[in-house]
Amino acid sequence: MSNIILIAGATGDLGGRLSKHLIGKGAQVRALVREESDPVKVGNLRQSGVEVIPLCFADESGLIAACQGVSCVVSVLAGLREAIVTAQQQLLDAAVKAGVPRFIPSDFCTDFTQLMPGDNRNFDLRMEFKSILDSRPIRATSVFNGAFTYVLNHDIPLLDTRTKTIADYEGKADWRIDFTSIADTAAFTASAALDDDAPRLLRIAGFQVSPNELVALSGRVFDQPFALKSQGSLPEFAAYIKKVRADQPQGESQLYPQWQQMQYLYSMFAAHHHAVDNDRYPDIDWQTAAGTLEKIKNKKIA
Ligand SMILES: NC(=O)c1ccc[n+]([C@@H]2O[C@H](COP(=O)([O-])OP(=O)(O)OC[C@H]3O[C@@H](n4cnc5c(N)ncnc54)[C@H](OP(=O)(O)O)[C@@H]3O)[C@@H](O)[C@H]2O)c1
Repeated sequence: MSNIILIAGATGDLGGRLSKHLIGKGAQVRALVREESDPVKVGNLRQSGVEVIPLCFADESGLIAACQGVSCVVSVLAGLREAIVTAQQQLLDAAVKAGVPRFIPSDFCTDFTQLMPGDNRNFDLRMEFKSILDSRPIRATSVFNGAFTYVLNHDIPLLDTRTKTIADYEGKADWRIDFTSIADTAAFTASAALDDDAPRLLRIAGFQVSPNELVALSGRVFDQPFALKSQGSLPEFAAYIKKVRADQPQGESQLYPQWQQMQYLYSMFAAHHHAVDNDRYPDIDWQTAAGTLEKIKNKKIA
């Protein structure tokens, strides 16, 4: 079996980190880039030893040629239907035609298999692609990492360092939410891409933390008291998000409209990992909750 990994989305944040890890592990990395990709990022990829393949995803024969000899295709595309359903399907169909044995889709989120369609628009697109992927003769592995730790940088209701409050929904004060740094997610995904025995779903969390635990930990790290802030019940939150979404139809064409961000928060409280696969690849030194809050306190990207 070759160890040629083809990445779609290597010019992105997760993709750039993933390609570095793969090169560090001795893999050969091919990256698909587009005409509109940032030439500086493309140049950086080339310099790091990545074989760069410029193409348009609608070019089926170009995609099939790029897939020749590849052991695993990894998609780290970000976007709406055009990326998550259309481009990923073009890539998947080319991979199958070229005889690629494995495919990792661009999931990298909360475990959406526990959610209902409509709970989260961006996860609905992943669910749609999952059913396409599972109908094709190729082995797939999805990585569910919960939320990236850096989402806590933005004083979202879950951790608001200005008001010193932590969001809480009825009955959820001890509900543990999954977080993983983007760096750890990239390191884990690189190992998964090189692991021929990887299962269909891999769940990871650098840490799992509840609102009650966040209150205590934030108090210690920021050396100031934090308190829970009641936000009502989750069904009430879901109904409110539905209303905001209906009132903001322009958000349907945006990746992160206000209601989508609320849907992410809702998803954090509606699905979490019951067991994690962190130990499958033992070389990762997982970023902790305390380490994440220390970074936020020191105004560094968490
Ligand atoms: N769990 C979380 O909290 C969390 C947070 C953020 C992101 N994510 C997920 O992590 C994954 C990677 O995200 P990221 O932040 O690394 O994204 P990013 O930095 O925005 O990079 C996106 C990549 O996708 C490519 N791309 C976008 N639309 C495309 C299309 N239609 N056709 C082909 N390529 C396209 C871009 O290529 P160009 O350079 O050519 O534009 C770029 O390489 C995504 O699944 C994203 O949803 C998860």
